Parts: sequence; C-alpha cells; structure tokens
Amino acid sequence: MKKILITGGAGFIGSHVVRLFVNTYPDYQIVNLDKLTYAGNLENLKDIENNPNYKFVKGDITDADFINNLFKQEKFDTVIHLAAESHVDRSISNPLEFVVTNVIGTVNLLNAAKQAWGCSKDKPVPADKRFYHISTDEVYGALGDEGMFTEETPYDPHSPYSASKASSDHFVRAYFDTYNLPVVISNCSNNYGPNHFPEKLIPLCIHNIKNNKPLPIYGKGENVRDWLYVVDHARAIDVILHNAKVGSTYNIGGHNEWKNIDVIRLLCKIMDKKLGRAEGENEKLITFVKDRAGHDLRYAIDSTKLQNDLGWKPSLQFEEGLEKTVDWYLANEEWLSHVTSGNYQKYYEQQYVTR
Ligand code: NAD
Ligand code: DAU
Repeated sequence: MKKILITGGAGFIGSHVVRLFVNTYPDYQIVNLDKLTYAGNLENLKDIENNPNYKFVKGDITDADFINNLFKQEKFDTVIHLAAESHVDRSISNPLEFVVTNVIGTVNLLNAAKQAWGCSKDKPVPADKRFYHISTDEVYGALGDEGMFTEETPYDPHSPYSASKASSDHFVRAYFDTYNLPVVISNCSNNYGPNHFPEKLIPLCIHNIKNNKPLPIYGKGENVRDWLYVVDHARAIDVILHNAKVGSTYNIGGHNEWKNIDVIRLLCKIMDKKLGRAEGENEKLITFVKDRAGHDLRYAIDSTKLQNDLGWKPSLQFEEGLEKTVDWYLANEEWLSHVTSGNYQKYYEQQYVTR
C-alpha cells in the first residue's frame, strides 16, 4: 500500500503515469495534483476518473501554504513530480514563468516532503518514503555528431526551460545531501504519443497535416532528437520508483535518433495513406522557418544503466508508435478541437509574428 502524490498528472506524460499506476496498483491511493494550465486536461483521464483508488486535486505547486496543507492532510509516502512548464519555445518568450513553476514549485514540494517526513542529516534516510523527480535530457546540453548522454555527463543547459529543469534537479540532489530526503531522478528524451499538446513538433504537424496547413520546420530540420513512446516512459517510471536506490539517477531514452526533417517526412507518408491523399501530397506542406534561438543540435540518451540494472527496454519501434499516435489523433478529433480552442490560435499567431 502506498499513498502517491503525482503532480502534473493531467498533462501529457503525467496522464499516462497516473493511468498506469491506477490500473496496475489497485491497492495504492493515487492523488493527482494539477493546476490545469493550458497543458493540463482532465479529458486525458476520463477512463479512470471514477476509479476508487484515484483522486484529483486542483492546485498550484507554487503556492507553498496550499502544498504544506495538502501534505498534512493526505500523508503521502511517495511523490512523483512531473508538474512543470514544458515547452522550450514558450520558455524563450517567458523565462520567468519557468523559474517560478519549475524551480520554486519544485522547492515547495521538497520542503513539504522534508517537513512531513521529518528528514534531517541527523537521522537515517527514511527507507519507506520516495521523492521521485521527473526530468529531461535537455539538462545535458547539446551533442555534436558523436556520443551519447550518460548519467555522468556534466550539466550544460542552453534554453530557459532546460536551465530551469537543471536548477530543479540540483535542488533535488541538494535535499538528499543536506537533509537526507530520499530522492530519485530520471532524465528522459523526447516523448511522443496520445494526449501530447499540439504545440510540440509531432502533434503540431499531425494537426496541421490534417488541416492542410504548413508544417513549420526550424532551420534546415537537421536537429536530432531521440524519440520514446510515452507509455514506455511511464513503464520506466514504474520500474525506477519501485527498484532504484535512494539518491540515484537514471537516463531514459529510446535509442531512436531521428533528424526532425526525417520524422516529418515519415509522418507525411503515414498520413498520405491514412487520409487517402496521393503519395507525396503532405510533404508539400513542409515549410522551413527561422530557427529556434539556441537550438540544441542533437540529443541521444544512453539508457544502458536502466536496461542493465532494472531490465527496462522500450517496447515499440518508432514507425509503429508513430502510426499508433496518428490513429489516436485521427480518432480523437473532439480532444483536439477542445485543446486548440481558447487562445491556441492566438499563441501561434504571436509565435509567427516574432519569428
Ligand atoms: P505538459 O506540459 O504536458 O504537462 C505539465 C502538467 O503540469 C500540466 O498538466 C499542467 O497543468 C501542470 N502544471 C503546470 N504548472 C503547474 C503548477 N504550477 N502547479 C500544478 N500543476 C502545474 O508536460 P509533459 O510533456 O507531460 O512533461 C511532464 C514532465 O516531464 C515535465 O517535468 C517535463 O520537464 C518532463 N519531461 C518531458 C519530456 C517530453 O518529451 N515531453 C521529456 C522528458 C521530461
Ligand atoms: O528532450 C526532452 C524534451 O523534449 C522535453 O524535456 C521537453 O519538455 C519537450 O518539449 C521536448 O523538447 P523539444 O524542444 O525537443 O521538443 P519540440 O517538440 O518542441 O521540438 C522537437 C524538435 O523539433 C526540436 O528540434 C525543435 C523542432 N521543432 C519544433 C516545433 C514546435 C520544429 O522544427 N518546428 C516546430 O514547430
């Protein structure tokens, strides 16, 4: 029996983590805390919302009093912390919001857990508690043509988003070193799959292909990302939570590097077939636009430690995962129309004016 606080559980990855835990562990109590920003959507969890081991709490991790009270009331023994501002382009136009949510929000949670669990350097690390922080490979910076990020790669963040995530990782480790808070961190590569907000490359392009709109590729499309199906990330989080040693770090990745332009060409091909369009039709939508400022050239994760120590490996090939993802978006037009209503259009118009 565990009582787990999952923050950011209404978002893209968080919703898959919540679903996996609620369905796999009927004897655990799962509390999903989410502010429901533009990226949080309870429709992502409709299938499990009435489950007796699941509860949703609307709240803000930047509100320290609220967080402290929640810890007092709920007596969590485990935290899986995903709540964050997650989009690199938004961090370039509004860095402070990323500092407030990703750094201060994380420190509020660390303080609340430290207080609730009575952690201090004078006492042993509590073995029955865990604070699991979900982070990104972007903290390691950018690779050239060769090499991969390992758990020992020095931090070298370049965007305000990755700088805020790196800072939060440092705070998490500092709470282990200073207060014996029982922490674990994982750093994952790019996720894709259902429920991904259509501001990120893959869901944006699925949405635009469907609507015959331009597919904006930054620079020459030569930047490389290492793509992992989101359910495989959730599976890795499950394995790490239950098996990782306190104070440890694991890299999670798909061993699946693709240039952006090749991802989009593959997507166009899949969607030519799915939408009954002529071969090559969708590729005509590809439009090269001004590059992202400080655009990291290449990410590639070495997840050998996770594979060897804990026996995790990705379950899906990229082509198969991408096809599944396209099928999900085509079958869930209502979800897409809800998340693209409101100020979605305004955000995009602003993006293109400033580019
Ligand atoms: P997302 O933007 O889809 O979801 C973030 C969630 O956090 C949303 O539900 C939002 O409402 C919630 N949130 C934001 N601010 C909050 C606040 N102040 N209080 C409470 N809730 C708040 O993000 P995602 O892509 O699902 O990423 C989840 C986590 O995983 C993030 O920490 C991110 O850095 C990390 N990560 C993401 C990826 C990726 O490819 N998407 C890869 C590696 C790591
Ligand atoms: O690596 C993990 C990170 O992956 C996570 O920590 C972030 O939360 C997540 O958003 C993601 O960051 P990226 O910046 O890599 O993802 P994004 O989908 O925004 O961009 C993927 C690549 O595609 C990147 O090289 C930029 C490029 N791109 C993106 C968009 C939105 C385009 O060429 N055109 C676009 O319109």
